Amino acid sequence: MEKIGNRVTLDLVCSLYRQHAEALRAAKDAQRAHRRSHPAMKTQLDDLEAEITYLLLRQQRPAKVVEIGSLHGWSTSWLLRALADNGTGHLVTADLVGHAAATVPSSLAKGRWEFRQGDARTLTGDWLSDVDYLFVDADHGARFARWYLADVFPGLDAAVSVHDVFHRTTPLPFTEGKEVLRWLDTTHTPYFTAARARAPHASARLGELRRELGLSEAVHTGRANPMIYFRINRSVDAEAPAGGADPDPFR
Ligand SMILES: C[S@@+](CC[C@H](N)C(=O)[O-])C[C@H]1O[C@@H](n2cnc3c(N)ncnc32)[C@H](O)[C@@H]1O
Repeated sequence: MEKIGNRVTLDLVCSLYRQHAEALRAAKDAQRAHRRSHPAMKTQLDDLEAEITYLLLRQQRPAKVVEIGSLHGWSTSWLLRALADNGTGHLVTADLVGHAAATVPSSLAKGRWEFRQGDARTLTGDWLSDVDYLFVDADHGARFARWYLADVFPGLDAAVSVHDVFHRTTPLPFTEGKEVLRWLDTTHTPYFTAARARAPHASARLGELRRELGLSEAVHTGRANPMIYFRINRSVDAEAPAGGADPDPFR
């Protein structure tokens, strides 16, 4: 994986949209067709956050991606599409239910996807070692977050995205989002979001850019884009001075 600084910023995301515009257009067309061919498939990841995930994977070229929470495999197909377009990388998905195996296109899965059915907290084996990108969209309660903050994060040197954090300006008490934001604050880890509720400026600027690039045609109907993105990059973090929260982090 390409080791880059420890920040996802709006400027970085904008530059990735320009750099990968054509590939992203093809990926969106393919995801639209995939969705049409599985009308009963539940698709939770919204367009903007799926596109940002795709672009970060294109930039970072991870060797190993771990996804926790796939349901019908909508996010799985986005992740696999980025790896396929990179021409490298492997995805391990964990979920309590096995629906994703029925919907993820075999052309994307073949040779690059491993599915582990079970509770992520108790699955055995080394599926959580050497992770370059961790994608979390599973149980949104505080207890689940406390599990991965305590048991998974200390061993990570990876990019991370967590879904369903910003459906409102601030997550409700006793939620995963609340716990993760507390951890980010305590560890002075900056994060990015394009969530309409939390970062209206970033959401609007990316909306304008997508229109300019001809990328605004919808794949999915959701508009909240509540995902957050950050990096736990130990080599960089060790050198970085401990700073407080950025007063205007999403510009
Ligand atoms: C919100 S859905 C995922 C949606 C999917 N990422 C998408 O883009 O459509 C959450 C999923 O997390 C799974 N899940 C919940 N708790 C889990 C756990 N402890 N371990 C593994 N998977 C879990 C659920 O079975 C469900 O399929």
